[in-house]
Amino acid sequence: MHHLIAPSLLASDFANLQRDIELVNASEADWFHVDVMDGMFVPNISFGFPVIKAIKKHAQKPLDVHLMIVDPDRYLKDFKEAGADSITVHYEACPHLHRTIQVIKQLGCKASVAINPATPVANLVDIIADLDMVLVMSVNPGFGGQKFIEHTFTKLAQVKTLAANTNPDLKIEVDGGVDTGNAAKLVEAGASVLVAGSSVFSASDPSLAISQLKHL
Ligand code: DX5
Ligand code: ZN
Repeated sequence: MHHLIAPSLLASDFANLQRDIELVNASEADWFHVDVMDGMFVPNISFGFPVIKAIKKHAQKPLDVHLMIVDPDRYLKDFKEAGADSITVHYEACPHLHRTIQVIKQLGCKASVAINPATPVANLVDIIADLDMVLVMSVNPGFGGQKFIEHTFTKLAQVKTLAANTNPDLKIEVDGGVDTGNAAKLVEAGASVLVAGSSVFSASDPSLAISQLKHL
């Protein structure tokens, strides 16, 4: 299967959000990556429900909602109602991860777990069969435009190996510092979904940047 591209709206121009959404609609991108930060799990605050609802109104592709928040269980239903098609929670933020994943699925969303750079892939061994996707963070979550962490290649391969028997259809997403310089190698290592923020929206031609990430 061909890999998917999920531009991160965190790097879009919030004063021209509709314009940037239309740009992604018309591009070769597959999903909208939507980063929610609460100032607690990560040292930054991004946006919440009203903005996600506004995105949903114009988006013609699925919303891939990445929750960088503590205790996401409190808000899963609200994210579904705001327009999330898939919900990613952080391993580090979920003491009852199995229950959280079941709730996301019962809501009718795809269920995904993100791991921080210092969280071992092996921690997913007892949940991986239940997931639609694993998100491997290639930067410490909280900010766009950070430097890609090279150890991510090893972790992508580890996720692929871990899922091989119990969940061969698992999607593996990589998020942080993804650009045309590392994208091909990331897909080769096992990534099936590439998130890209600054490398898309800081490009002089964002649609071309998306197309270049799609055709490696
Ligand atoms: C970081 C977010 C990312 C971010 C990626 O915490 O999860 O999705 O937008 O931005 P870039 O591609 O600029 O590293
Ligand atoms: Zn993200």
